[in-house]
Amino acid sequence: MIKLNIRLLNPEVDEAAVKAQQRSVRRVVDQLYKGRCAGADMLGWRDLPLRDNREELKKISKIARKIRKKADLLIVVGIGGSYLGARAAIEGLCPALPGNRKGPEILFLGNHLDADYTAELLDYIKDKKYYINVISKSGTTIEPGIAFRLLLDHLRRTLPPKKVKERVIATTSPAKGALLAMAGDAGFEKLVIPEDVGGRFSVLTPVGLLPMAVAGINIKAMLKGARSMARHCGENRTIAGNDALKYAAARNLLYQAGKRIEILGVWNPALFYLAEWWKQLFGESEGKDKKGIFPASVGLTTDLHSLGQYIQDGRRELFETFLVVDKNRRKVVMPELEGDPDQLGFLAGEQLTSANRQAWRGTMLAHHDGQTPNMTLHIGKRDAFHFGELFYFFEFAVAVSGLLLGVNPFDQPGVEAYKNNMFALLGEPSRENERLALEERLNKIDDSN
Ligand code: PA5
Repeated sequence: MIKLNIRLLNPEVDEAAVKAQQRSVRRVVDQLYKGRCAGADMLGWRDLPLRDNREELKKISKIARKIRKKADLLIVVGIGGSYLGARAAIEGLCPALPGNRKGPEILFLGNHLDADYTAELLDYIKDKKYYINVISKSGTTIEPGIAFRLLLDHLRRTLPPKKVKERVIATTSPAKGALLAMAGDAGFEKLVIPEDVGGRFSVLTPVGLLPMAVAGINIKAMLKGARSMARHCGENRTIAGNDALKYAAARNLLYQAGKRIEILGVWNPALFYLAEWWKQLFGESEGKDKKGIFPASVGLTTDLHSLGQYIQDGRRELFETFLVVDKNRRKVVMPELEGDPDQLGFLAGEQLTSANRQAWRGTMLAHHDGQTPNMTLHIGKRDAFHFGELFYFFEFAVAVSGLLLGVNPFDQPGVEAYKNNMFALLGEPSRENERLALEERLNKIDDSN
């Protein structure tokens, strides 16, 4: 089970103060379980791992087996919650070096609008047998929409219609959206994102599970981990008995004490995308109504030679959450070197894991001495079960934390602003007046043409 140590949050926050949050935490947890909180129609994630999803898992496994057998490549098309969870799990659990991975290569598109990357990917797939998993709950998001249009155009120019149909799996809302309609018309295989599960809470639905299964991840074990955490959270509603609640309460107190930025520090390069997923989950859930902790991340020890300076000694509005995997999968032992020319002979015979561990131990004290309060989340191992636990842990914690903050953690109204402007500027016919007004403003400031 995931464990949280909060002993280095002092002097801003001590353990007694965190425990003293029990009443307000209990209030929002009860609201969450009674379905009487802000965003109550989006609580599908809460019991998701507890639902009987055997039929869906069978379908996902069947599709994944086919893709693993037949394809050189799977292209996952999606943005935000429609790709970050899958990518976090794949990068987090599969071998780091592409040559060591088994099964089809997995590429991501539709998570930006860069022509260079897109053109390179389109060249790269030309002679390859690829499948597309296009993922969009709304079915109308422009970045994946454009990417899918490009890929579909390529497929249609190179394959007969029957074959095109076989190569696309659409993961989308069961009820609405352009992608659902396209899938229906074209006869693509469909997987469903439950209506009451928001994008950033959807990693344990087919959104995350199909790409993970294609990558060879044991999705049953992942769901088992999530289920065990979901049960734990349902049965333990005290801060002392539930570290997800402890985490939410501690963050809330730190925020009240003026700590406005949380840095998630990961000690394994494999967890880089887990931090990206976490940033989206916390940033989109809490950053609203002019409130919220800004979530940032660092990869360690790498960033101790870059952002470490700021964390140690810059403006004091930060706190850190270290994510420590207690057991590495592999052992690396430092060798003797004749004559000790690098003067690292004192390390000979030591494991690299131990160097990483002492770096973490030294860093927590150093940053605490520099007045950056920090806490550590221990996950036992980097495997599917523990990832399942961790995904659910953070989903539950952000729900409680957002409700403590007084926001609706399950909506994202702010995301619309850029979309409206971009659609208008791209010339969507119904937005002509908006376009003219925006162009007038931009003409005054934009000299890039
Ligand atoms: O959490 C969210 O709801 C968002 O980040 C979405 O996942 C993201 O905007 C993609 O949306 P969609 O799946 O509708 O294309």
